[in-house]
Amino acid sequence: MEKTILVFLLAYLLGSLVPGSWIGKLFYHKDIRTEGSGNIGTTNAFRSLGPVAGTTVLVLDMLKGVLAGLLPFIFHVDINVMYVGLAAILGHTFSIWIGFKGGKAVATSAGVLSVYNPALFWMVVATFILCLVLFSMVSVASMVGFTFASFMSVFYYHDIILSIVAIVLTVFVFYRHRQNLGRIMKGQESTIPFGLVYWL
Ligand code: G3P
Repeated sequence: MEKTILVFLLAYLLGSLVPGSWIGKLFYHKDIRTEGSGNIGTTNAFRSLGPVAGTTVLVLDMLKGVLAGLLPFIFHVDINVMYVGLAAILGHTFSIWIGFKGGKAVATSAGVLSVYNPALFWMVVATFILCLVLFSMVSVASMVGFTFASFMSVFYYHDIILSIVAIVLTVFVFYRHRQNLGRIMKGQESTIPFGLVYWL
């Protein structure tokens, strides 16, 4: 029982780490929470700090999910990886280091999924890249990626736990992207220099 509590606590604390905010402050003397979209995630790190910081934030935010997903194996406890992953995703979105605020759950969720179901992870990555090629908007690719993961969990894998977590996360991710959705509706969402929409 103590081990179970420890695993959930560690996962939450891992997820709580905010590399986007810390890298910005430490190496660029910028608070990305007051730059660009104000998000602490990869896209805003790319936008506000550049490709080196953006790539580093992507790797570290994903790594939080991967490490959290590995905790049940490390501690030899029989808890579903998705449940522990959810604790890390909660940490990422409601971080103790930044007043229980946080990111939009994308990269850390991807890290958890890569441990739980690597095949689905790569299918989601392919869907994400296809959306980027078509729409040039990370927000759109993120929301479509989560929707695709939910669809596959329910109709292809028939995995009840994964399905419930994926659907809950998809609803949450849409909620977290509500400002992006507003900008998409007005044709004001920022595009990345990659894909069709950017070059049209
Ligand atoms: O990972 C978050 C991404 O989907 C959107 O980020 O900064 O454009 O709101 P941002």
